[in-house]
Amino acid sequence: MSIRCLITAGPTREFFDPVRFVSNPSTGKMGFALAEAARAEGWTVDLVAGPVALPEPAGVMYYPVVTAEEMLRQTDALFGPCDILIMTAAVSDWRPKVCQTQKLKKNGQGLTVEFEAVPDILATLAERRRVEQVLVGFAAETENVEANALEKMTRKKVDFMAANSVAGAEGAFGRDDNQLILLGKNGFRQVLGPASKREVAQQLIRQLSHHLAARTR
Ligand code: CTP
Repeated sequence: MSIRCLITAGPTREFFDPVRFVSNPSTGKMGFALAEAARAEGWTVDLVAGPVALPEPAGVMYYPVVTAEEMLRQTDALFGPCDILIMTAAVSDWRPKVCQTQKLKKNGQGLTVEFEAVPDILATLAERRRVEQVLVGFAAETENVEANALEKMTRKKVDFMAANSVAGAEGAFGRDDNQLILLGKNGFRQVLGPASKREVAQQLIRQLSHHLAARTR
């Protein structure tokens, strides 16, 4: 069976002047590892990534973006034909209401920036999904990791949520290893890792592969 997989990775950035932005510490390692694992599984892979310092994985279609709006547009354009969407991207949830056209000059004072919410990409796409598409979110949590991830899975109407602890120095951002709790419908729960992100990615792709195979039997 030929599978088309759409993966988002890395952070997004929201600028408030030409040289300053808000973002988060995501490095894209988990999403890139998943793209490689999905490719190794024989899947066709589209990878939409925010600004990262990683080499482009071989054999995948690569779409670099910067802001949440760009990620939404690019992901939406690729969503229709995909069989699986895996959203590992750490979308920066707020953007400055105004982006100055010239660099802000210091005047010895503080700075107040007003923010507005960016679109929720996963929830937006879930509203447009075909029933047979499989949607996987990554919940970045600093507390009540599993309960919050389950709540997000239901609220965003997705099939699986990979619960990911991002609290403190032990958190997932930037590390080479990770542990995920993959949560699904009807109480499905599988711990992946702790292991290298490469291995955790292979385990996750294997789980999704089993899920797809079981559905078509
Ligand atoms: N997500 C998204 N668009 C956003 C925010 C998040 O598509 N604007 C996706 C992420 O890629 C991830 C899932 O939603 O797959 C959960 O992201 P997370 O950051 O854990 O949750 P949030 O919805 O941002 O909620 P909160 O920040 O309040 O925990």
